[in-house]
Amino acid sequence: MTGDTAGSRIVLRNTLREHASPYDLAGDARAGLSSTPKTLPSKYFYDARGSHLFEMITRLPQYYLTRAETEILEREAGRFVEAVRPRVLVEFGSGAARKTRILLDAMLERGLLEGYGPVDVSAQASRHAADTLIRDYPDIRVEGVIGDFERPRDLPFPGRRRLMAFLGSTIGNLEPVQATAFLTSIRKEMTAADAFLVGFDLVKDVVLLERAYDDEAGVTAKFNLNVLRVLNRDLGASFDLEMFRHRAVWNAGNSRIEMHLESAVEQSVRIQSIGLDVSFAAGETIRTELSHKYTRESAVGLLEASGLRVESWCTDESDRFALALARALG
Ligand code: AVJ
Repeated sequence: MTGDTAGSRIVLRNTLREHASPYDLAGDARAGLSSTPKTLPSKYFYDARGSHLFEMITRLPQYYLTRAETEILEREAGRFVEAVRPRVLVEFGSGAARKTRILLDAMLERGLLEGYGPVDVSAQASRHAADTLIRDYPDIRVEGVIGDFERPRDLPFPGRRRLMAFLGSTIGNLEPVQATAFLTSIRKEMTAADAFLVGFDLVKDVVLLERAYDDEAGVTAKFNLNVLRVLNRDLGASFDLEMFRHRAVWNAGNSRIEMHLESAVEQSVRIQSIGLDVSFAAGETIRTELSHKYTRESAVGLLEASGLRVESWCTDESDRFALALARALG
């Protein structure tokens, strides 16, 4: 499917096959809630309410990630752009906000900017980013790919020199094996002129990490519990949100923060549309998100294992977050 608007400055290509949608809530809920331990994929947080709650998280004093990454971009974007001289920005997960614009502005100021290529599972998010950006950057073209960005193919602007960006430490949601598979598939699409910019949240004091995922205002708790609302609404489930507690715990062995929903009592929950009854012991949890934290060594190791060579490693002033600029190994 090709959508074409705004005098053909926007093209959105849908590469999702109906049967291969990355969103199979019924199948994923059945598999995850019948397994031990119980899990749910974190992608189901992001309905309209969940996306709004995530926006609020990025502004919390405890959630340093967005501010730290923005600080690095503000300081280094010009240098990245001069090192790569990209004509287009390809972004995994579309954005129209601050971080994307810092990179686009650095390209524009140097007379390089021709296009923006969001790669996103959400057509709505891509369209919104496209509409906003063509208004503010009157000379750019948008070539969006609606697709599962864990299986990148047919990336935007194949003929042009591309800066590919994967920001926000979203890479941390993937287990290292999946992250390597994802990075490898991007690397295979890259030419020697392209570069890849990726954000890593760094290992740090456990108290700071746990606070970032369990704020006092309870916004992250609402965000976590929102996945149960999604199951109630879309699968006719009967979760009582009062009967589950938000937990954020550091798993040192796997170097990650895990979010869980802990059952306050022994209970059984009916999920109507998949005909499943899920029983919980008191204190039993559903693991809802993994957020891996890296060291410089582990991040460089991950990139190298994926055939990417790190050209530049930049952290914020307080060493909380890093951006790695990498090239495909020949
Ligand atoms: C958007 C996946 C990067 O893991 O820090 C924020 C999501 N979860 N607070 C992260 C999230 C809880 C976030 N990512």
